[in-house]
Amino acid sequence: MTSISKIISARYSCRSFTGTPVDKETLDALADRVASPQRGPFGNMPRFSLLSMDSVSRDEWRRLGTYGVVKNARMYLAGMIRPAPQAACDFGYCMEKLILEATRLSISTCWLGGTFSVGAFAAAAGLRDGEDLPCVSPIGYSANQKSLTERLLRRIAGSDARKPWRELFFIDRPGTPLSSADAGPYAEALENVRLAPSASNKQPWRIVRHEDRQAFTFYLSPAFGYRRIKKIALQEIDLGIAMSHFDLTVKELGLQGTWLQENDARVIESWDYIATWQAAD
Ligand SMILES: Cc1cc2nc3c(=O)[nH]c(=O)nc-3n(C[C@H](O)[C@H](O)[C@H](O)COP(=O)(O)O)c2cc1C
Repeated sequence: MTSISKIISARYSCRSFTGTPVDKETLDALADRVASPQRGPFGNMPRFSLLSMDSVSRDEWRRLGTYGVVKNARMYLAGMIRPAPQAACDFGYCMEKLILEATRLSISTCWLGGTFSVGAFAAAAGLRDGEDLPCVSPIGYSANQKSLTERLLRRIAGSDARKPWRELFFIDRPGTPLSSADAGPYAEALENVRLAPSASNKQPWRIVRHEDRQAFTFYLSPAFGYRRIKKIALQEIDLGIAMSHFDLTVKELGLQGTWLQENDARVIESWDYIATWQAAD
């Protein structure tokens, strides 16, 4: 079985597809996962559906669906959720698990939270009253030749670079960097957080390790002036994605723990508290 770290390293935002249909066995395996109930660490239950674009003309989709960002995708994964406390985190957590399952099946994907038209997807996805459709992802085989738009978008977002450990992970308080050696058995899980996708590659996750009580506190460092697109905050989705990478890795490594929300979590100026992962005794 492929390790979660290999899958996380293999995932990237693909915006140019071959247009070839995904083979039936692979698609059935993905469809099974997409259709199964999903629950995030905070208990919210997003819904997902796979949409085939076969009945829509290529030109129409190029224009309408993703404003020209995605080329030649004939299938999309769409995610829906009712607004509620921590709904965005749970949404990111659950959708990233499906994105990584697609990656495991050698299917390419791209999180889209801004450059897609909700109106163009809502009916096909079966969006219900009171639900939001925060993100979609194309599903398909990656084309060797990347479109000019894809190359430009990667360059603008700086998609190939990630912040170093010292800017993301800390011991006990911000300002005291946590090194990979200090992180011990948790180093792989934190590295997998570092490699996570995030909206505009802003990488808003900050994690503080509390050594005395074997806990990791997850914070959101909001990007200055970052727009709250639609009703769901994209950067909270980013935190859910990071939590899924952490969780999948520690589970694979056999490190036991649970997510909790502390009422008295340390307030850190300019960061929003999101959640704590507490190791089991
Ligand atoms: C919540 C979320 C929303 C995103 N929205 C868009 C989008 O609207 N359009 C787009 O082209 N890429 C979008 N991306 C992709 C990011 O730009 C990409 O993940 C980041 O630049 C890192 O590159 P990588 O995914 O190839 O590692 C989004 C990513 C996330 C996690």
